[in-house]
Amino acid sequence: MPKPFYRPRRLRSSHLLRAMVRETRLSPLDFIYPLFACPGEGVKREIPSMPGNYHFSVDRLVEECHQVRSLGIPAVLLFGIPPSKDAEGSGAYAEEGIIPSAVRAVKAAVPDLLVITDVCLCEYTSHGHCGRVQDGDVDNDPTLELLARTALVYARAGADLIAPSDMMDGRVEAIRDRLDDHGFEKTPILSYAAKYASGFYGPFREAADSAPQFGDRRSYQMDPANQREALREVALDIEEGTDIVMVKPAMPYLDVIYRVRTEFNLPVAAYQVSGEYSALVAAHRNGWLDEALTILESLTCIRRAGADWIITYFAKAAVKLLQGQAAAGS
Ligand code: PBG
Repeated sequence: MPKPFYRPRRLRSSHLLRAMVRETRLSPLDFIYPLFACPGEGVKREIPSMPGNYHFSVDRLVEECHQVRSLGIPAVLLFGIPPSKDAEGSGAYAEEGIIPSAVRAVKAAVPDLLVITDVCLCEYTSHGHCGRVQDGDVDNDPTLELLARTALVYARAGADLIAPSDMMDGRVEAIRDRLDDHGFEKTPILSYAAKYASGFYGPFREAADSAPQFGDRRSYQMDPANQREALREVALDIEEGTDIVMVKPAMPYLDVIYRVRTEFNLPVAAYQVSGEYSALVAAHRNGWLDEALTILESLTCIRRAGADWIITYFAKAAVKLLQGQAAAGS
């Protein structure tokens, strides 16, 4: 042993020292909680592939939002389950559609909660793709009009942020222009900038009944093998006027989060998606993984990689765990 030699264990010897040298901390302000709004009244129906998550009719969604805000979580991300679907996804941009109705109700009841609306067509199209389909593929430019229209309807309903998740080329610019032209220049865009064609969206597609009826999403979402391409996608969204960029999924893409964090100066969000959530929950329920440890570790590591915000189905559970730790003084 060289002398004097450095002993890393010195600073790990008590819980207080460990807390004082901790480089990354979680706070309720880091979290965005995704929620699913559905038609009806008095509905709170558990999603089988995502235990602990529900389809809420608007009245029950409002109750849930009160609870989310009272935990100190600042924002929710809303997805809609429409009463019916068609080829154009018209339920996405109907003025009285599920999302505008949900946004109006939540903003009226819980004004201090930020409401972020996902903008995409796949929950609303009969074919399950994220845009207008022509000759077996999503037709990019005609889809932009539908997305811009959707974003404006949500902004008018009172959405605080607009989050396009469709991965069409040019959609940030199309949405920014439309919002600005109608007096919504102050409404920020949180773009799904680097969104991969991931197998980890499986449970969500059951939750939103949005699995593509033919083919897959690889002609518009990114190839999981690519990192440099994510930087091009982010640069493009910034040029087009996005305010916050997102990497999705989170845990298998920590390198991408890190590179985006170091190469750009915008806030970075990461989405710990349905498959990341459900895989952990399945292991917790089988007694294979410790629930508290792995929820907080997964979120801490996403923050450590560079995410400012984490969209996570664990948001409520994580806040309760953090409250427990604070009460225990560690
Ligand atoms: C809509 C959308 C999806 C998710 C968020 N927005 C599904 C998809 O692209 O297939 C996935 C969210 C999750 O898995 O938790 N395009």
